[in-house]
Amino acid sequence: MGNSLPHANVLQDPHGRILDYLRLSVTDRCDLRCSYCIPKGFKGFEEPEHWLTFDEVERLVAAFARQGLKRVRLTGGEPLLRRDVTKLASRLHQLPGITDLSLSTNATQLVRFAEPLAAAGVRRINVSLDSLDKGCFEHVVGRNVFDQVMDGLFAAKAAGISPIKINMVVMRGVNDHEVMQMAEFCLEHGFILRFIEAMPMGETGQKASYVPLQEIQSNLISTFSLQPTVAELGGGPARYWETADGKGQIGFITPMSQHFCATCNRVRMSVDGTLYLCLGQEHKFEFRPLLRGGATDDDLDAAIHEAIAIKPAKHDFLEAPKKILRFMSQTGG
Ligand code: 5AD
Ligand code: SF4
Repeated sequence: MGNSLPHANVLQDPHGRILDYLRLSVTDRCDLRCSYCIPKGFKGFEEPEHWLTFDEVERLVAAFARQGLKRVRLTGGEPLLRRDVTKLASRLHQLPGITDLSLSTNATQLVRFAEPLAAAGVRRINVSLDSLDKGCFEHVVGRNVFDQVMDGLFAAKAAGISPIKINMVVMRGVNDHEVMQMAEFCLEHGFILRFIEAMPMGETGQKASYVPLQEIQSNLISTFSLQPTVAELGGGPARYWETADGKGQIGFITPMSQHFCATCNRVRMSVDGTLYLCLGQEHKFEFRPLLRGGATDDDLDAAIHEAIAIKPAKHDFLEAPKKILRFMSQTGG
């Protein structure tokens, strides 16, 4: 992991929040079509000439790290579809100031990638898994890849990647009947399960009817004798509960029913070098023209502060549920 920088800067937004976390999309493409994410038949993917190159990504992340960034998550689309992504991972892992490198994946390629990722410095991953029922899984993701995903998940465990967090987007009438079973499965195998409320991003996200997680929480708490935990489990928005022996954790991510914008610590870079300041707003800043137009490091550093200065206070998913046309994989998950 990179060393700490001698004179640590801090990136603070106009709302007083410290931003130390970048979610970096390395591709907007995906081999799946989750019902709440990429629309079936979608053709509008970014042109390859607009993808930031690894040199550009490294330069940009180094600039963010000079300004106080500490943590990077590789996302997509499906990040493992970007050729040589492990090479990028190890370059980012070595950058001064970056102390945590993680990845979010759908696990379809994890059998092949688990070991190389671990070797490249990716010590923890998040895996999307919305169902343990093969038919239901196929219905949600649009492809018959359940066995492949399961193999990938266990390959990551065998490669020593830890923690492995599992993201389950809970959808009414689709997979909400599987909540208990998923909790049991994750507790048994040592995966940290997080339930997520679907956000109305794009027409796909807007069609997914979210389940307010309070509905499922009390049943889970009593069934598994869960207690609230104060432990830091990644510094994100999930509220965690744990089993009495402290060995199992279950998290709840409630962007809709109880938003956590006041403690937001992150920004998102899409594959074409657009920095999105909020999932639920249009505020953005284009870095590609700077990177390809001869910007100096000082220019980049200044641009980062300019970008952070327009970070909105909160999303309006409840007030304006049709506002955001980008679906998740276009912003970077
Ligand atoms: N709402 C909530 N979560 C979403 N994801 C993708 N689209 C949405 C949405 N509209 C999740 C995926 C994955 C993570 C990167 O983002 O399930 O776990
Ligand atoms: Fe692909 Fe993730 Fe979107 Fe599913 S949620 S389509 S796995 S990018």
